[in-house]
Amino acid sequence: MSDLREKYLTAIAGAEDEAALEALRVQAVGKKGEISLKMRELGKMSPEERQEAGPRLNALKDEINSALAARKAALADAALDERLRGEWLDVTLPGRPRRQGTIHPVSQVTEEVTAIFADMGFAVAEGPQVESDWYNFDALNIPGHHPARAEMDTFYMHRAEGDDRPPHVLRTHTSPVQIRTMQAQGAPLRVIAPGRVYRADYDQTHTPMFHQVEGLAIDRDISMANLKWVLEEFVKAFFEVDHVDLRFRASHFPFTEPSAEVDIRCSWEGGTLKVGEGDDWLEILGSGMVHPNVLEAGNIDPNEWQGFAFGMGIDRIAMLKYGIPDLRAFFDSDLRWLRHYGFAALDVPTLHGGLSR
Ligand code: PHE
Repeated sequence: MSDLREKYLTAIAGAEDEAALEALRVQAVGKKGEISLKMRELGKMSPEERQEAGPRLNALKDEINSALAARKAALADAALDERLRGEWLDVTLPGRPRRQGTIHPVSQVTEEVTAIFADMGFAVAEGPQVESDWYNFDALNIPGHHPARAEMDTFYMHRAEGDDRPPHVLRTHTSPVQIRTMQAQGAPLRVIAPGRVYRADYDQTHTPMFHQVEGLAIDRDISMANLKWVLEEFVKAFFEVDHVDLRFRASHFPFTEPSAEVDIRCSWEGGTLKVGEGDDWLEILGSGMVHPNVLEAGNIDPNEWQGFAFGMGIDRIAMLKYGIPDLRAFFDSDLRWLRHYGFAALDVPTLHGGLSR
């Protein structure tokens, strides 16, 4: 019997794969295996012989079964090690630029704007793109008959037949987020609200969907001077220049009083735009002191609080900064355009890292 033990344990230890192990199992302890046959012979033995051979056979069977299991586990471990060696991957290797998508200039510029205003203590607020007539117009001091409603080329949503509540609109500007934020946070507050807006308009400088960023700061004694400083800081940081000339032009918006449109000095010499020099002016935003009616619509007491607000075209300033001539191409999803004007995925703008490097 010790011959049998020797024979099988050696064979099992040397088995190279699961199939070989299975063959050995059948040969030794399978129904017609060598050891099973020997167990069957026990019946023919004398009681004394049986008492001695029975336990030894059982022990041998157990030993062979555990050797089979141990070898099987060792083979599985070796197979896993082999696979891990083969599939090893250095996750710290840089990506392959040719196979990466790019970040759209609008996304990149939104990140840049957010980084700059975050540095001045502005948080990011959001609102819905399908907006109620009240938030988009009335709350902003634009009553039903006001010409600004018609001027905005508003897209109206559908209302069911017989429902004569005013229809919802695709928001025509990010200003309704002013009201929502005032209602949600109360005063004082300091936020920007970047996002998509919609107007029925289409040419080289207008698309029916475009992007704005709203700014709103409310406190006890905020003035036009604070607005001017914040905008100057922003423009210098955004265009990465030490000096800019801003021009505040008196203007009119129903939701601000007084109101001003802001231009930056630039030159178009040689067909390329340079910010901060030259004799041309380019309008980049609308702004003003928040109208008392607007504060009231936001549940803020205009006798205690005041604030400034501005609204700026993100696509517009992206075109200016990165020299992109046609706004319509922004939303064509042309891969060549995206590769040319897009940004590397990991090139996240921060002030400390240098906005656009
Ligand atoms: N909502 C205005 C627009 O879309 C911009 C603006 C915002 C003007 C805030 C003043 C204050 O043209």
